[in-house]
Amino acid sequence: MSDYATDKNPEVTMEEIVALAKRRGFVFPSSEIYGGLGSTYDYGHYGVLLKNNVKNEWWKSMLVERDDIVALDSAILQHPKVWEASGHLAGFTDPLVQCLGECKRRWREDHLREANVEKGGNYDDPIVCPECGGELSPPRNFNLMFETHMGPVADDGNAVYLRPETAQGIFINFKNVLNFARKKPPFGIAQVGKSFRNEITPGNFIFRTREFEQMEMEFFVPPAEAQQWWEKWVEIRHNWYLELGIRPDFLMIRPHEADELSHYSSGTSDVEYLFPIGWSELEGIANRGNFDLTQHQEHSGESMEFFDQASGERYIPHVIEPAAGADRATLAFLVDSYFEEEVEGRKRTVLQLHPRLAPVKVAVLPLFNKEGMPETAREINTALRKAGIQTEFDSGGSIGKRYRRQDEIGTPWGVTVDFDTKDDGQVTLRDRDSLEQIRVPIEGLPEMIAGKLAEPWQSPKLDQAP
Ligand code: GLY
Repeated sequence: MSDYATDKNPEVTMEEIVALAKRRGFVFPSSEIYGGLGSTYDYGHYGVLLKNNVKNEWWKSMLVERDDIVALDSAILQHPKVWEASGHLAGFTDPLVQCLGECKRRWREDHLREANVEKGGNYDDPIVCPECGGELSPPRNFNLMFETHMGPVADDGNAVYLRPETAQGIFINFKNVLNFARKKPPFGIAQVGKSFRNEITPGNFIFRTREFEQMEMEFFVPPAEAQQWWEKWVEIRHNWYLELGIRPDFLMIRPHEADELSHYSSGTSDVEYLFPIGWSELEGIANRGNFDLTQHQEHSGESMEFFDQASGERYIPHVIEPAAGADRATLAFLVDSYFEEEVEGRKRTVLQLHPRLAPVKVAVLPLFNKEGMPETAREINTALRKAGIQTEFDSGGSIGKRYRRQDEIGTPWGVTVDFDTKDDGQVTLRDRDSLEQIRVPIEGLPEMIAGKLAEPWQSPKLDQAP
């Protein structure tokens, strides 16, 4: 039986993921040559490819696989009244306590109390500084929005905020979409983009950072349909992770308790993943009711009502919001795919990523740098790339080392050009997970790989389970 409070992913530690991410150029600590800047990260080549694939799969599920959602890319800087109306200026706060002892560190009070509960204590037990044991100050509410100033002079009159969620950019464009996209409820507006939160205690690699990327969709529905759409979206979003290969036992849906709900929500369920730090949120699916549109109607004076000509009804739509973190999802796919095994007496580390998420789909490898092998491999590489397939040409080092490098970045297929290729027009196709090697013709290779990418896929770890 799973213990929600203490369970951790048993297969890999966060340190192993951080080390692989750095070693293989997925993610680096930001500003490293200056000693780093707390919990900010830069994505390297493979990290960009992986995260782009995650975002592309999300867009595809929103815009291609259904036709009731449209796209938006709103500004990061918005009128300050947006945040007044949304409730973020007044209510987007965390309880901050500061150590009054030696270390003077700041902590989130709720996190310290939750840690007590994890150790078997009670939420209301007295707390002290976890660093130095010092007394803690009474909590004060700390607003998480990053403030900056518009124009050359910084004063109170020109304060603006980096958006803490992409959602508000969608709400303030509701009328534009209604008028110009010829949509009527139920319909959605989807957006992917950076958001910023001045978290008191960021951490756990790219799980909680102050600058992060969201994939949010606001689905506008007639009020009477809100509950049924909420349930539907919880199921749809849960299935999205499953279809991309996350194993069912490592995913769960957790409804929020009443005292956890955000100020705008009348019901939220999180999709959680069993990270090395324990069960944690990947995505929240909230029933925001008509809170946001009503607030913007009141603060802007613009009507946010929809007039249904068929029924003669006039109403402010209710909103169902699946809000996912692109960085968190990327981390979950890294964790879930990480696998170590021994092959012929040597340790093999492999990312068993869904092929559509893998940064590189095919490694093209001439067995040796002679007898026309590099030239043939280059031609194959070009043909695959022309077909839109991300490849990597690698002619350096022993074939074993090159395979291991590709395993660690999760490349599902290796194509090796060898001595026989020039005679039989065939190459060796190596499968990352089964390690099976088969001979296939060069002719039709791009079509064959495209076909494999379109196939349903499940994690090979499911077959390995006892
Ligand atoms: N829009 C919901 C969130 O940012 O968590």
